[in-house]
Amino acid sequence: MFRAATEARGLAYAPYSGFRVGASVLADDGRIFAAPNVENASYGMSLCAERGAVHKAVSEGAGRLEAVAVVASGEGHTWPCGGCRQVLFEFGRGDLAVISESPEGEREEHPLADLLPNAFGPEDLT
Ligand code: THU
Repeated sequence: MFRAATEARGLAYAPYSGFRVGASVLADDGRIFAAPNVENASYGMSLCAERGAVHKAVSEGAGRLEAVAVVASGEGHTWPCGGCRQVLFEFGRGDLAVISESPEGEREEHPLADLLPNAFGPEDLT
């Protein structure tokens, strides 16, 4: 997953922030989908790497997502933003493993439920 995320980070389009991110998601059928962040001159139209990876997975017919790996160009660990946590919850639920690798190569992992407590999801609408 980190090989794919790091490769994707190399494709980041981040001319405005200079903050380069790569993310990959692992689907329950074993497939891995990766994407970089893609910014836009209309800043609000920028897309985070995590959401790019989720959209790729869903577009390719992936089922439940089991993990997300994140690598960024900043110091320390980068964790998915609030909006991306919500999008990950839709397809992974609370036990999805969120794993971040620092520039020093240290990995840290948290279940999504710890990063997005009391999440609102599909079950709330049934
Ligand atoms: N970004 C991501 O792609 N993922 C994160 O987890 C944090 C932020 C992007 C959005 C924007 O292109 C840049 O990083 C700075 O916020």
